[in-house]
Order: sequence, then C-alpha cells, then structure tokens
Amino acid sequence: MQKELNKIAKDTNIFLKKFIKKQKKSELIIPMQYGLFSGGKKVRSKILIDVGSLFKINYMSLIMIGSAVECIHAYSLIHDDLPCMDNDVIRRGKPSTHIKFGESTAVLAGNSLLTMAFEILSHKNLKISDKNKNNLINKISECSGHLGIAGGQYLDLDYEHKKVSQKKITQMEIKKTGKLFSFCCAVPLILKNRSKSEIKKFEDIGADIGLLFQVADDLIDYKGNLKDAGKKTGKDKIKGKATLISLLGYKNTINYANNLILKIDNKVKKYGPRSSNLSKTLNYILNRNK
Ligand code: IPE
Ligand code: IPE
Ligand code: MG
Ligand code: MG
Ligand code: MG
Repeated sequence: MQKELNKIAKDTNIFLKKFIKKQKKSELIIPMQYGLFSGGKKVRSKILIDVGSLFKINYMSLIMIGSAVECIHAYSLIHDDLPCMDNDVIRRGKPSTHIKFGESTAVLAGNSLLTMAFEILSHKNLKISDKNKNNLINKISECSGHLGIAGGQYLDLDYEHKKVSQKKITQMEIKKTGKLFSFCCAVPLILKNRSKSEIKKFEDIGADIGLLFQVADDLIDYKGNLKDAGKKTGKDKIKGKATLISLLGYKNTINYANNLILKIDNKVKKYGPRSSNLSKTLNYILNRNK
C-alpha cells in the first residue's frame, strides 16, 4: 500500500509543482507550497484511482483531478489548525502553516489553495469535455462549501462540549470529511456520463469511506502518538469534540468501523475483481497510525 501511495504522491507533487511554476510569482506561493508539500498521505487521490480503475479512466486525468482535491484538502487542514478552529501547532510533523507564516498569511494561502483547485479543473491541459469539467467543478464546489467541508467544520466546532446524537455526529463527519471522498468516488462516473442515480450510489459509497476515514482519524487521536501521527494526539477529549468514541467508547467504535468496511465492500464487490484495490485501501484507512 505504502509503495502505491508513494507513487501517487510523487506524481501528484510533480504535477502540482509544474502547475505552480507556470504561474506568475507571488508572496503567497511559499506558504501555499508549505501547506501542499509538507507531506500528506494522498489517500483521497488513491480512492480516486481505485474507483477510476473500475471504470478504466486515464491515469493522468485522475492525477490532475486528484491534485485539485489535494489542494482543497490542504486548504482545509491549514484552516483547521488555526487558533479560531482546532488551534493545533503541529501538522505532518512540522509547525502548522500559521505558526510558520502567521495567521493572516495562513488564511490567505488556504483561500488560494481552494481556488487553485478550480483553476486546475478548468485548465486546458485536463483533457476532458467542457461539460464534464463543468460537472466536476459544480460537484467539488458543493462538496467543499456549506453542505460539505465548511458546513461540517462549523458543526464540529458547534458540537464541542455538547451531548450530540450518533446520527448528528456521523452527519457532521460525513460533511467535514466524507463529502470530499464522495467527490472522488463520483468522478469516474461523471467522466463516463453515467446516470444521476449511479453517480448518487458512488457518492454514498464515498460518504461511507470518508466517514470511515474520519472515525479512523478519531481513533488515532485516541490511541496514537505524535511521532507516528505527525500531529498532537489526545486533543479531541480535551476539546470536548463530539466523536463516536466519546459517545460509544473505543471498542464499539472499532466495531462500527469494521461494519462500515463490510458495508462498503458489499457495495463495491459487484464491480469485479478490480474492486479488491479499494478493499485493500479501506483496510489501510482503518489500520493506519498516521
Ligand atoms: C486529516 O487528513 C484530516 C482529516 C480529514 C481527518 P489526512 O489524514 O488525509 O491528512 P494528510 O494529508 O495525510 O496529512
Ligand atoms: C479535520 O478533522 C477535518 C477537516 C475537514 C480538515 P480533524 O480536526 O479531526 O483533523 P486533524 O485531526 O486535525 O487532522
Ligand atoms: Mg477539526
Ligand atoms: Mg483538527
Ligand atoms: Mg482528528
């Protein structure tokens, strides 16, 4: 798994470095690069490639679209670490972007990474039809805004130190993390002009994968350590974050995550032997320590 992730990370970073290099210089480029290239597992791009392999989508198109996703993800992490949000000073084993460059610069570098995603998806070098580009931009916008990352981050902060139902916790986690995975799972079907209902099926699979990813992240906060995770752990409890662990306990949360894997596996296995790539990624997501 690590070898495959490394290759995806390498190809994504090569694309992004070239893309940025072709643009005019600005003062925000260094903090943007810091947020983008400071590490990162590239799991969202891996999911895009796993689902892409079910529909035989061209690898380089997936790397470009994954690069746009990674820009949005990097933006969300820069903002997530700000004092007004989770107030975290270490990310990917290094000082968070606002620690290194200051808060206002971190906000603006984050904004610029968000909009760079749309520049990438609308770029002429992405060899897909204009209609499909429009559909991708429409979908990724929805997944990032008030119905996606931003809305989920609002709820995550709003729920701190409150008793929140299981349904509300999973809905919040699906928004803040799941929706970007929904986008990744929908991309291959959008590119193949599949029906709305088929796209919706894969968006739902993506939401469950993203939920699994966030539950695993919550488990890392509960059981993991700074050295492996590259970020401070044990913080969710202190901050009173509403998570499945805080509601159900550790063991029940592990069971919940294993059931999610079974549910997702069942949905994807009808797409043939290539679905085993995705299955392996799901197990990696739950068992990782970073
Ligand atoms: C961390 O995401 C934030 C969450 C959405 C849980 P990742 O664990 O994918 O972060 P990197 O990119 O690998 O550092
Ligand atoms: C972050 O969730 C979700 C985002 C959309 C950024 P967390 O706040 O749990 O992520 P970490 O643990 O700081 O990486
Ligand atoms: Mg957070
Ligand atoms: Mg955080
Ligand atoms: Mg976390």
